[in-house]
Amino acid sequence: MTPYRLTVNGSPVEVAVPGSRRLLDVLREDLGLTGTKEGCGEGECGACSVLVDGLVVDSCLVPVAQVEGSDVLTVEGLAAGTGSDELSALQRAFLLTGGAQCGICTPGMLVAGQAYLDGGGRPDDDAIREAIAGNLCRCTGYTKIVEAIAMAAAGSVGGESGDARESA
Ligand code: FES
Ligand code: FES
Repeated sequence: MTPYRLTVNGSPVEVAVPGSRRLLDVLREDLGLTGTKEGCGEGECGACSVLVDGLVVDSCLVPVAQVEGSDVLTVEGLAAGTGSDELSALQRAFLLTGGAQCGICTPGMLVAGQAYLDGGGRPDDDAIREAIAGNLCRCTGYTKIVEAIAMAAAGSVGGESGDARESA
């Protein structure tokens, strides 16, 4: 079987799997990146969100063949520097505001939030709610999540310096 080659969180990987295998399963089962969660499995909840070439996608809907040669970022890759335990500004903001809740929606929220920041998103609650409209939270509501993304967008998280995503 010809392996598919892609970059995941900055590292090149090869996976010898059928091209129809879901990116979600490749990440979780073949690569051990279990931070990405499965909710609905039907493209409705956003729990499985990852960035592919900078765009938010539902990894439960994407066959691995479609991401051959692509750059994939999962929630594990958000921490500053591959292999570092240091949290990104957005992750710290989730902790500070209480936006990290049960953990099912959180990885997808972080990924969608990071895409918003990477796109130059401002601390604008309406725009943030629109940016995370594809990510459902069934537990506790969106207020603290929006607050966290706004805090990161405002650059007011504080914490360690040297975070490449701090000023995103
Ligand atoms: Fe992919 Fe719900 S698990 S969108
Ligand atoms: Fe549980 Fe969002 S789904 S906190």
